[in-house]
Amino acid sequence: MASKNNTLSLLILSLSLLHLNLQFSRAQDVVRAAYWFPDSGIESSDIDASLFTHLFCAFADLNSQTNQVTVSPANSAPFSAFTRTLQQKNPSIKTLMSIGGGNSPRQYFSTMASGSASRKAFIDSSINLARSYGFNGLDLDWEYPNKTSDMANMGILLDEWRNAVVMESRASGKPPLLLTAAVFYASQVYSLSYPIQEIGRSLDWINLMAYDLYDPSWYRFTWSHSALNDPTSDFSASFGINDWVQAGLAPKKLVLGLPFYGYGWQLANPQNFGLRAPATGPVVGPGFSRDYGAIGFKQIKDFIQREKATEVYNETIGTNYCYVGTKWIGFDDSQSISAKVSYAKESRLLGYFAWHVANDLNWLLSRTASQAWNV
Ligand SMILES: *[C@@H]1O[C@H](CO)[C@@H](O)[C@H](O)[C@H]1NC(C)=O
Ligand SMILES: *[C@@H]1O[C@H](CO)[C@@H](O)[C@H](O)[C@H]1NC(C)=O
Repeated sequence: MASKNNTLSLLILSLSLLHLNLQFSRAQDVVRAAYWFPDSGIESSDIDASLFTHLFCAFADLNSQTNQVTVSPANSAPFSAFTRTLQQKNPSIKTLMSIGGGNSPRQYFSTMASGSASRKAFIDSSINLARSYGFNGLDLDWEYPNKTSDMANMGILLDEWRNAVVMESRASGKPPLLLTAAVFYASQVYSLSYPIQEIGRSLDWINLMAYDLYDPSWYRFTWSHSALNDPTSDFSASFGINDWVQAGLAPKKLVLGLPFYGYGWQLANPQNFGLRAPATGPVVGPGFSRDYGAIGFKQIKDFIQREKATEVYNETIGTNYCYVGTKWIGFDDSQSISAKVSYAKESRLLGYFAWHVANDLNWLLSRTASQAWNV
């Protein structure tokens, strides 16, 4: 039987938990998400909204003069239609506006985060924009903080952002905006630790970009840019997840990134076509990006059919690849997507997200991921 003291402390505990819940109202049990951007090849109205709980609309920009978040004139119409379009099809879906991205200069974020007035300009404008476009949340894509002071300032920014979102919610009577960030696959980038405590208390979750870990312009051997496991290096999704948890972040704050694309390596010798085969650089050809040899899942499936390439799944590494002649592509297909989602679920993560949804082929990967989570 519980003593009076125990009952009292239980009461206090439940009250403080209730308070936390009210303050943050973090209702997500699972995140099954993807990024979309205008000009990616499909309209937001083409997205099968039944396969997702959350969708990210990318990217809003950071103005380096004003430190305010802005939406380019070209993106304004697609951004304003985004939430309405998706929620018509799936009323419970939540949308987030993503800020920054790989092409956004990291220096802009570094400067913005370094002063209290510039942080306020960022925070206030981001919240105003999210509300005026009807988004349910905001996502920070700063790729990547690269100074000790950046990491400290990012922590301050996240705490201030959370405070502002809580205040805005009280004032507007609307549910608080979700706050997330897309981060490096591991808890350190350029040997600098992310601000774990601030991330844990101020963000709803983080999106681990567990891809682009190898690319053919740099590594002269074939490999997966997004392996689930890698016995020989730290560059894998499972390493990244364990690293974040060891650094002190709760698994329920982690959402695993699934790339709907791969990279093409030019083989040095067509007879040597396995993993870690010698390579001379990126594949050049239709569908492959210049410089890096990146290629979308849809285009990879076209390539396999057109060139009669052989596809293989390596279960140990958790990657698919295909080869024909001197062309070799490492990528994610249903087997590796399914293995990664199962791993994320077994590791008690919050969920997964895909970059990016327009690269899927007839919803194959999105459906595979959703089913693997629901098993
Ligand atoms: C950090 O990024 C800035 C801007 O891209 C660059 O000028 C600087 O050299 C980088 N610093 C380090 C330590 O990598
Ligand atoms: C999978 O890849 C690993 C690493 O290259 C290799 O050692 C192993 O033999 C491969 N498995 C199969 C079934 O080919």
